[in-house]
Amino acid sequence: MSPYKTVINEAKSTDVVWHLASVTHEQRVMAQGHLPAVIWFTGLSGSGKSTIANAVDNMLYDLGCTTYLLDGDNVRHGLNGDLGFSDADRVENIRRIGEVAKLFVDAGLLVSTAFISPFLADREMVRNQLGFGQFIEVFIDTPIEVCEQRDPKGLYQKARAGEIRNFTGIDSSYEVPLTPEIHVETDKMSVNACAEKIVNYLKTKGYIEATADQ
Ligand code: ADX
Repeated sequence: MSPYKTVINEAKSTDVVWHLASVTHEQRVMAQGHLPAVIWFTGLSGSGKSTIANAVDNMLYDLGCTTYLLDGDNVRHGLNGDLGFSDADRVENIRRIGEVAKLFVDAGLLVSTAFISPFLADREMVRNQLGFGQFIEVFIDTPIEVCEQRDPKGLYQKARAGEIRNFTGIDSSYEVPLTPEIHVETDKMSVNACAEKIVNYLKTKGYIEATADQ
C-alpha cells in the first residue's frame, strides 16, 4: 500500500498503483553506517540556517555518512521555481520539500534542509510524513535585529523600503518551534559550535557512531 495514502487524501491521479521496490528500505539503511533522518533547520532569513546546515553536512560527510543538503534559495531556482512567498505558496514549498526529504530518508541518507518554513503546522505535517525519530527539528534562533543587521542579501532593507512584500518577520509571520529537538542561538555561539552541537546530538541519539571522529 502507498505510504502516501494517509497524507494526500485527494490525489488527482486515480489509476495509479503503488509498486513495491525489490531493494527494501531496511536493506538500504543496512548498507549505510548510520540511521537516516531529516535534519530540518528552521529560522528567519539571515538567521544562519544555510551556513550551519552546510557545516553540519560537511562534518557528516567527513565522518563517512551519506548526506545531502536541500537549501531554500537553491530549490526555488528549480523544483519550486513556480512558487512565490504567499502563505499558500510557502505551504506548497514545504509540502514538496517534505516529500523530497522523505525520498532521501527512504534511500537511507542523512538529509539537511534549510528553509524558513515559518508555519508550525507545515513542519508538523513533514514530521508526520516521516517515521518515528526521522524528523529532527533544529531551531536556528537568531533575533530579527541580528538578522536585519547581517542582511547578507540586502532583503531586509528592501522589505523595509516596501520593495518586497510578505517578508518573513516584517509583514509575514514566523511561528517559533515549541519543542524542537535542537535549539541553537547563533548570536551566542560560533557556526562551528552550533554545528558540533547538532552532530553531537546525532551521536548521543545513536544516528551515527558515538566514536566517530570529526
Ligand atoms: S519558506 O518561507 O517558503 O520556507 P524559503 O526558505 O523557501 O522560504 O526561501 C527563503 C529565502 O528566499 C530567503 O532566505 C530569502 O533569500 C528569499 N526571499 C525572497 N523573498 C522573500 C520573502 N518575501 N520572505 C522570505 N524570504 C524571501
